[in-house]
Amino acid sequence: MKNIVILISGRGSNMEALIAARDAGNLPVNIAAVISNRPDAQGLETAKKAGIATHYLDHKAFAGREAFDAALAECIDGFAPDLVVLAGFMRILSEGFVRHYEGRLMNIHPSLLPSFPGLHTHQRALEEGVRIHGCTVHFVTPTLDHGPVIIQAAVPVLDADDEDALAARILVQEHKIYPQAVRWFAEDRLRLENGRVRLSTALAGSGVLISPEIR
Ligand code: GAR
Repeated sequence: MKNIVILISGRGSNMEALIAARDAGNLPVNIAAVISNRPDAQGLETAKKAGIATHYLDHKAFAGREAFDAALAECIDGFAPDLVVLAGFMRILSEGFVRHYEGRLMNIHPSLLPSFPGLHTHQRALEEGVRIHGCTVHFVTPTLDHGPVIIQAAVPVLDADDEDALAARILVQEHKIYPQAVRWFAEDRLRLENGRVRLSTALAGSGVLISPEIR
């Protein structure tokens, strides 16, 4: 069974979705540890309650990004993960860190990448007036919120939406697509071809999820 380490900075609801999928028998992985860069991350408590090893590494205690990333990698590698899962880990990662985990570092981002990388994605989507918005799970490359797309979920943007309503609609989908992406990795169904993800089709599944409101 593959070993995963999850990195969080806050609430940890995507981490919780991964734990729930594992507990339901839908995610055949060993969650070796949950690591946060913030001591007060709510998700650390949730992970502890689930019996998972937790660590925190305060980025403010390090001289710079490289020093923090090196210490973080050392902590992560102590658990020998096959996959490192960024679940609301709100740090820009150094190139050396990303290269070290090439092909085994996943992120979830609350937009349909390559649209709206960075912060405040829902507010920006509302300002642009897009009709479809969503979320993306991708392999991480050194460019922020960029890299081969594994799965995306799309939701409608409704006239009455504010940032919170849109975020909530998308979070429901995040909690579906992240366990799905990690499951595909665990089943060795993902391969990279010319910088794009191919999903082996021996079993059912596809890298797109359209929310029922759109159909
Ligand atoms: C999620 O919406 C995730 O997509 C986003 O942070 C939130 C974390 O929530 N990640 C990013 O914006 C990364 N660029 P959670 O802590 O409840 O999983």
